[in-house]
Order: sequence, then C-alpha cells, then structure tokens
Amino acid sequence: MLDISFAKPALPNAGALVLLIHEGDKPSGLWQQADEATGGAIARAFEVAEFNGGKGKTCSILAPGAGLTRVLAIGLGKEDNVKQTVLEDAGGSIASSLARESTVSVAADGLKPGQAAEVALGAVLRGYRFDRYRTKEKAEDKPKLAALTLLTDHPNRAKSAFEPLKGVANGVFVTRDLVSEPPNILNPVEMAARCEKLSELGLQVEVLGPTEMHALGFGALMGVAQGSVNEPRMVVMHWNGAKKAGEKPVCFVGKGVTFDTGGISIKPAGGMEDMKWDMAGAGAVIGLMAALAGRAAKVNAIGLVGLVENMPSGSAQRPGDVVTSYSGQTIEVINTDAEGRLVLADVLWYAQEKYDPKFMVDLATLTGAMIIGLGHEYAGVFSNNDQLAERLVKAGEISGEKLWRMPLHENYDKQIKSDIADMKNIGGRPGGSITAAQFIQRFVNKKPWAHLDIAGMAWSGKDAPTIPKGATAYGVRLLDRLVADHYED
Ligand code: BES
Ligand code: MN
Ligand code: ZN
Repeated sequence: MLDISFAKPALPNAGALVLLIHEGDKPSGLWQQADEATGGAIARAFEVAEFNGGKGKTCSILAPGAGLTRVLAIGLGKEDNVKQTVLEDAGGSIASSLARESTVSVAADGLKPGQAAEVALGAVLRGYRFDRYRTKEKAEDKPKLAALTLLTDHPNRAKSAFEPLKGVANGVFVTRDLVSEPPNILNPVEMAARCEKLSELGLQVEVLGPTEMHALGFGALMGVAQGSVNEPRMVVMHWNGAKKAGEKPVCFVGKGVTFDTGGISIKPAGGMEDMKWDMAGAGAVIGLMAALAGRAAKVNAIGLVGLVENMPSGSAQRPGDVVTSYSGQTIEVINTDAEGRLVLADVLWYAQEKYDPKFMVDLATLTGAMIIGLGHEYAGVFSNNDQLAERLVKAGEISGEKLWRMPLHENYDKQIKSDIADMKNIGGRPGGSITAAQFIQRFVNKKPWAHLDIAGMAWSGKDAPTIPKGATAYGVRLLDRLVADHYED
C-alpha cells in the first residue's frame, strides 16, 4: 500500500508538487510560494493552458525550477461543493500521473483535514497492483511512487481522519486480491483458508465443509458443487463491534463461484476466463468484513459466503435434476448455469434462520442480463424493504459505487413455475435479472433484504480514477458507507 504521511506546509525543493485548486481561486499558501520560487512559471502555464481549477481539469508543468521535477495542478471545481468522489478522484489521478516520480508532495493547505485524508485514500486505491505472478517485469515498467506526503495545516487531524480510511482501503485490497487470483489457485478450499487468515484482524471465522453442509440439508448448494473435484465451503465471519450488548447483527451474503463453466449447460469458450471472477460477491463480503474490522466499526456484522466451483463432469448435476434446498423448498434445475441463485438460496436461508439479522444484503455476479440492462455504471438493487433500498441507493451516490433500483413483483413468479417442483431455476430471457431476484426472494423468509446484482461492476476492462483495470472490489465501499451512516451505535 502506498505510504501516506501528513506534514505542515513547507515548500519542497525536490520531487513533484501537486496543487489542488478550487475553481476561481487566487494564488495563496503553497501555491503562491511555488509560483514565486519558480519565477511565475505556474501562473504562466495556467494562463496558456486556460486552467482555472475546473472540476477534473489538470495542468502539468515539467521542470518548472526551484528544484521541482514537475508541478501537477488538479482542479476540484467550486469550493462550496466538493464531493468526496472528486477528492478521491484527484488522489487517484496523482497516483496514476505521477507513478514514475519517487517523491511527491501534495499541497493540501487549501483543504480541510478530512478532505486531505480523502485525497490520500484515492491515491492509495489507484496505487493498487496485482503483480504476484509477474516474474520478468522490467524496473522501468513498475511504478516508482511508494510514498506520498500531504501538506496540511492540521497534519494530526488529517492523520486521524485517514486511519479508518486505511482500514477500508485494506478491505478493498483484500477483495481485489481474491477476485484477481486465477481459478486454479483460488478454489473454494483456498478461498476459505484466506478467510481464516482474516482472524488476524479480530474477525471470528467459521468454516463448514461438505459433510456439515450435507448434514444440514444444503441440497441446492451441494448440487452445484457435486461436479467438481474441489470441495465446497461455506464461511461465516463475525465482527462484534457494537457497544450495546445484544445488538442484532447486520448480515451480508456473497455468491462465491470460484469458476463458473456453466456446468453441463456449458458456456461458450469465448470469454469464459472471465468466470474466474464469479466469486466477486463473496470477495466483496470478505473485504467488507475486513474493512469493518480494520476501522473497528461499532456494529455487529456477519458475512457469509457460499464457495463452490461449477464444473461439468460425470458427477455433475444434470438439467432436469430436482434438488431440495435447506429451506425445504424443491427446485427443478433446468439450466446448470443458473447456479448462483442455488448457492444463495441455501446460504440466505441459513443466515436468516441462524442469526435473525436486522437485514440481509446479498451480492452476486448473478446475471448477464444485468449487464445488458445497466451496463457498467450501476449495479441493480432489488429489495423487499423501501428504507433499506433507499439507504443503499444513497450510500451508492456518496461512495461512487452506484445502485439503480429494479422491480420485484409476484407477476414474474409465473416464469419460474415448475411442472414437478416448487420452482425452476430459470425464467427465460424476459427480465432475466428480475426472475433471478424473485427466485432468491423465496429464500429470505420475509426478512428485510436487498439483492445486489453486480455482474457488470465486479471487473473493469479499463482504468478509472481510483480503480486500476481489473478487479474493482465494487460493494466494499458502498456497504461500509451504509453501515457507517445507519447501523453504528
Ligand atoms: N455468473 C453468471 C452471470 C454472469 C455472466 C456474470 C457474465 C458476469 C458476466 C451466471 O451464473 C450465469 O451464468 N447466469 C446465466 C443465467 C441464465 C442461465 C438464466 C446468464 O446470465 O446467462
Ligand atoms: Mn452460471
Ligand atoms: Zn455464475
């Protein structure tokens, strides 16, 4: 993780200097000092580039004098309306555009201490790399930037504001590491082992194997797992941070299909490698639990993940099989590629029955149809509870992990009616994400619940300001915000 420090404002005489500028501001503080030390080079560059601090605008000046390698100015827009995402994005653009610099100072003397911390968070998030499997990378292809100093009038306050954000960034990295791992390494057993390691953070971690899950009657989850030589696992992670005794927990459930071939209803070859990230819902739940522990959130939270590999083989389940879920409801498996809902069915029923939570939120890369519907900008949220849905949508706006509410309605139920069982596991093409959510709703037993279909959000094909291309960890920041704003005592 990029090393962050905070110090009192003093003009550096080496390395790169970043200026964070509000639209329409006049030079003052470090900005003014740097301009004077460079003989007006900054003012001249701004003039030529027509840079005035507009949101997202930047101006880069190479070798301006005064010992500096460069000055990078980033516009924040009007001072009275700087959103958290703008500050984080500024931090992200520092980490990406100055990756080849070794010493970087950020003039944050025009910002509040909490805002300086948010810039730092953005830089840390963008600085993430998954390079575990590179053995031949040349030094010149690696980023040099390892440390960032933010210059602020209140370094101690900025540092305390950054402390919890560091815990959240660590959670995001936990998720990104899991989602990036190749599927031969990260099978359900390995993923459960990685969860167990998180007990270092103060989480209590329980792992259930096939014997326990079979004995409990997890017929839906076990049916998906039966074609793979890699055994399934269910992991339950507890964070007990509430100050009040006996507070009911909040509960998060993740789909963890470590590889989804489709099973006997096998997927086409093109792009199938993407299905290594079919465990991103579980990955987000695990990273969220790490984040809550890392910032010592005052909440009781439980994270449950159902971990399976969906493979075709002589022992795999067949289209037409009928399985009995943990809830007792029977399911006709028409398509073995609609496996995520089968996994969630058993884990959700277990969660509500065993822990009687305040609410359950599940996350799943559940349907390709969700990508058709919302693309790669919003995840879909389906909920039986307006308050929970509204809080989630709001947390999405603040965190930048956006959610769009989708409908649930009993009229969709006819699409998942089976001729021989209580339901079938697919509802045809029309409203494919909705019939999947209708299916899952049958396993929440009327508890306040929201289902997040993150199929379009878990992986990114291109760099974004605070997210390098690859695993996004969508959901961690969103749900951390939900908890922080509504469920801590
Ligand atoms: N994991 C997939 C959904 C998915 C597809 C996520 C592409 C991300 C990118 C899920 O298990 C699946 O295969 N869903 C099927 C459901 C269908 C068989 C009803 C789908 O969306 O095609
Ligand atoms: Mn599938
Ligand atoms: Zn899947």
